[in-house]
Amino acid sequence: MTPFVFGKIAEFENFTNREDETELLQKLFKALNNVIVISPRRWGKSSLIKHATNQLLGIDSEYRVIYIDVFNIRTEEEFYQEFASKTLKVGYSKVEDLLVKSKTLFQKLIPKMSFSPIPESEISLSFDWEEVKKDPTEILNLPQKIADAENFKLIICIDEFQNLNTFDENLAFQKKLRANWQHHSKVGYCLYGSKENMMQIIFNDKAQPFYRFGYVLNLEKIKADKWLSFIQRRFNETGKAIGKDDSRLITELVHLLPYYVQQLSQISWFYTENICTKEIIEKAFDDLINQLEPFFIRETENLSNQQISFLELLLNGSLPINSNENIKKYGLNSTANIAKAQKALLEKQIIRKYSNKFEFIDPIYGVWLQKSYFKSR
Ligand SMILES: Nc1ncnc2c1ncn2[C@@H]1O[C@H](COP(=O)(O)OP(=O)(O)O)[C@@H](O)[C@H]1O
Ligand SMILES: [Mg+2]
Repeated sequence: MTPFVFGKIAEFENFTNREDETELLQKLFKALNNVIVISPRRWGKSSLIKHATNQLLGIDSEYRVIYIDVFNIRTEEEFYQEFASKTLKVGYSKVEDLLVKSKTLFQKLIPKMSFSPIPESEISLSFDWEEVKKDPTEILNLPQKIADAENFKLIICIDEFQNLNTFDENLAFQKKLRANWQHHSKVGYCLYGSKENMMQIIFNDKAQPFYRFGYVLNLEKIKADKWLSFIQRRFNETGKAIGKDDSRLITELVHLLPYYVQQLSQISWFYTENICTKEIIEKAFDDLINQLEPFFIRETENLSNQQISFLELLLNGSLPINSNENIKKYGLNSTANIAKAQKALLEKQIIRKYSNKFEFIDPIYGVWLQKSYFKSR
């Protein structure tokens, strides 16, 4: 058994902290308020939402939950299919019920359903796309209709929501969603995504259909102190040990990014026979950087020289960032050039702005540039 989990949803004993966020989400879910959760990737949105909904389901049988990931949905049509089939499945677990009820649920659209012969099987659902395109309201109101008819409350969680922005005619599409969803009294929507700038535009820009659709939770990182007991406990449970300061070192090396805290803990745990030490953690960290190097090299190949110079300035330059001295030293030529490089790096999700400062979205990329790339130039 390995005590640390990364790259998949952390739940149950793998989930830690976030008590305040969990409580807040529960309250919002219970009241069926819509909620939007924003943070960079790998900070724990999907895990937090799974955790909070698991808890809600555990204490209140009135609620049901569905999860839709827009990450690999590319068209409006695919979205409707996924939306409708997940909703039908959560409403009716028995195929017979579903067949009977679907007659009352659809008046205009006629869904084609097929079932694989195995019991508790997946249904697959399709519609006449031309009909849906003319009027998707029946699909979009399906959750409300089913929740009402079957007397439950439904939370619909949609992950990587900003991907809707890449659909054809996405504004018109989003208008349809909002126009219908905002009337749902039995359904709460939880919409979350990792592309912060796109999420901010979707929900905070007046011109956008989803402007002020719900409560916006900008997720922060988990504080260092909160990680320590988790790391120590996971070591102890597997017959190993790690001190408080060394646990802290793990969280510091990876700038508290939850995914990396788990990954670096895992590598350190792996190298530890009995008691983890500073030397072990440093070795584990070198290992981690080496594992990531191919990605970092590829990432860097996609940057212009000016963008790379800006990253170097960000790591080594003195403040204020666009001083004449910096412009000269890092070969950026003008403040206009700095602004251009910043904009491109923000769009490429290499950096983000946080309390008026720029920081690397992937902190280890910064470490690698510093330790390896700029050193060897
Ligand atoms: N509350 C948490 N407790 C423990 N580990 C976490 C927590 N949140 C995130 N992680 C770690 O970070 C990784 C990424 O989390 P995830 O929920 O997929 O983030 P996101 O959805 O924001 O990209 C998880 O696989 C896990 O290793
Ligand atoms: Mg996620």
